[in-house]
Amino acid sequence: MERLDIKTLNDVQAAAELKKLGDILTSADRDYHQKDAPTLSDAQYDSLKKYGRDIVSRFPQLEKTAQFLNSVGAPAVSGFGKISHSVRMLSLGNAFSDEDVFDFVRGICDYLGRGTSQGLAFTAEPKIDGLSLSLRYENGALTQAATRGDGAVGENVTENALTISDIPHHIENAPEILEIRGEVYMSHQDFEALNLRQTEKGGKVFANPRNAAAGSLRQLDADITRQRPLRFFAYSWGFMSEPIADTQSQAIERLTQFGFSTNPLTKLCQNATDLIGHYHEIEQRRATLGYDIDGVVYKVDDLALQGRLGFRATTPRWAIAHKFPAELAWTHLEGIDIQVGRTGALSPVARLAPVTVGGVVVSNATLHNEDYILGRDSKGAMIRDGKDIRIGDWVQIYRAGDVIPKVADIDLGKRTAEAQVFDFPKHCPICGSTALREEGDSVRRCSGGVICAAQAVEKLKHFVSRAAFDIEGMGAKQIEQFYTDGWIKEPADIFTLKDRFGSGIQQLKNRDGWGDKSANALFSAIEDKTIIPFSRLIFALGIRHVGEVAARDLALQFDTWTDLAQAVDCARPAALAFRKADEAEEQERLAAMQMQRRARITETRKAVLFAENPDETAISAWDDLISKDGLGPALALSLSDAMANKNERAAFERLIAHLTVTRSERPAQNSVVAGQIVVFSGTLEKMSRAEAKSQAESLGAKVSGSVSKKTDILIAGPGAGSKATKAKELGVKILDEDEWLSLIGRT
Ligand code: IVH
Repeated sequence: MERLDIKTLNDVQAAAELKKLGDILTSADRDYHQKDAPTLSDAQYDSLKKYGRDIVSRFPQLEKTAQFLNSVGAPAVSGFGKISHSVRMLSLGNAFSDEDVFDFVRGICDYLGRGTSQGLAFTAEPKIDGLSLSLRYENGALTQAATRGDGAVGENVTENALTISDIPHHIENAPEILEIRGEVYMSHQDFEALNLRQTEKGGKVFANPRNAAAGSLRQLDADITRQRPLRFFAYSWGFMSEPIADTQSQAIERLTQFGFSTNPLTKLCQNATDLIGHYHEIEQRRATLGYDIDGVVYKVDDLALQGRLGFRATTPRWAIAHKFPAELAWTHLEGIDIQVGRTGALSPVARLAPVTVGGVVVSNATLHNEDYILGRDSKGAMIRDGKDIRIGDWVQIYRAGDVIPKVADIDLGKRTAEAQVFDFPKHCPICGSTALREEGDSVRRCSGGVICAAQAVEKLKHFVSRAAFDIEGMGAKQIEQFYTDGWIKEPADIFTLKDRFGSGIQQLKNRDGWGDKSANALFSAIEDKTIIPFSRLIFALGIRHVGEVAARDLALQFDTWTDLAQAVDCARPAALAFRKADEAEEQERLAAMQMQRRARITETRKAVLFAENPDETAISAWDDLISKDGLGPALALSLSDAMANKNERAAFERLIAHLTVTRSERPAQNSVVAGQIVVFSGTLEKMSRAEAKSQAESLGAKVSGSVSKKTDILIAGPGAGSKATKAKELGVKILDEDEWLSLIGRT
């Protein structure tokens, strides 16, 4: 859509522009959310919204006609019922190099407390590029089929699943209840034929087989699904009323006996080298398989060991997806947009002429920060041989797995005189505040903090949302109203609202929609939430990557805000060092990919960590943070960034001053060690420290790193040293590993 200069618009033109925008955005929302077929890139969408908001801020009287600017996507397709998964549907961690595979195997041995991987078998099978589906069989009959959804709740697509010929309606000799999981996909041949038919009848053409499979399964009319040639590979299971096998490979065999298609390239391997060998074998056959795969999945074969290894927040420890290398593609860089995040970071995004990279149409790529655009890393050293990125350039894009597309290279030979150097804004494009770059920070941030509408409103909406403070009567609409009126600029203001306006009711009452009753109800709803569980508080802060699960884990690990803040502050130097190491690793991986040589990841990481040299206390605080289930490095880093940001930290503290934060109840456990504080020290012989820790936690104990008066039990292996001495002094109960295992009933 062509844009007019807002400064020269009159109100009639402004209204006409908003009408046009409304049509475009509403239909884009529908294409994105309901048809699985985005028609605008994220950047185009965001920049159109910004254009709309700019118009409204000059012509506030038009706000009522521009409600579409406040919508968050189209409503979920109604018509599909929801199904709660009895066992969550999780995703897989990724490996990108041989080294990652060796690390995966080594990590498992360490976790299980085994010195070597001798006798540890794995299955290796293609990772199908489709969408996952869970099928529930009761007394042998298919009763329910659900998509993955958000992992906890999926869409009920039972009728549609019944039309897929690979999915048996009845199975024999199965446990009373058995949930089979696998991937719905479309073969290349069927995909081409479908697109041809669609073109002929003027229907929708799909970008790739995965989209076609998703679009075909999620049809409200099962008769349409029936006409779409979908297939299904079974590869795992959810709930079962009794086990079906002792090993992964036997289980797959049983799935085959039940009548499911299982992948013929599944192989039992004895070590990491075998796994990598099979990976290359599959990679070689990839082009002739007739369906899309995007890597190879490795799983520990012994199901008892899978059970011991268990899960992190969203991925199993016993499996990993070894992804095929990133694919590269050249395209034209049409513009650079700036997005302002919840934390005020100005992120440049490349707007690209759409190009297919690895089966996905890409129309934007992250450009990280201004140095990156200039061809420098955060220390000023050259990246991409110092080539800068200009608007109008030909750029090479890469995409590795789920990673956001990035720019790998620039073709200087194709650069024309029109190519424009990008002038990185020194002001926030949303609120106009100065955008500052602090020393040592590669990111320029809007200094507007809470005055930046983009940041503040989004944070506030999140704060009051259902899973956070859940303040009755205070939703997105009210937040916008209060924000525009200047009544609430940050979460702490919610709790002073009533006081700041005396009784407050008078002012509220005069506003549209508010009466005595609703105003009173709002104040008492706010009052109700001044007592809040710690986990909800953490989630409500809106820190990137800190979702509900992670917030719950953090609240269990650190009982109070002070404990959490201390641990995160202490880990800060290590967090920064590890980020540098990650960045160096990524550069190394890219260089290796372009020069087709082996990546030297370990050496690169070691060199950076050696140079940064964070102290021992920081490293152990960092290890504690990330070793906790569910807190991966990305999450720990973003938590660390948020807590180190002075403005954010001050706003957190202002908020907490109004609250009574309650400790999170550990899940009720009737184990003998529930609620006890235990410390492991010395060498454990039956399992690793990590497994011992997560086992104790799963029984409701709290595992601490040091002995104090509060400690209930010290589990002392050989070499327990000073902790054992201290425990003796304090009269803490000391057990050896066997005594501990018999106490918790594991022998
Ligand atoms: S096993 C606990 N095996 O990949 C996780 N997943 O990135 C069990 N996928 O959500 C998943 N092929 O949709 C597994 N052979 C395979 C797979 C596979 C494709 C998908 C699945 C999963 C996603 C994770």
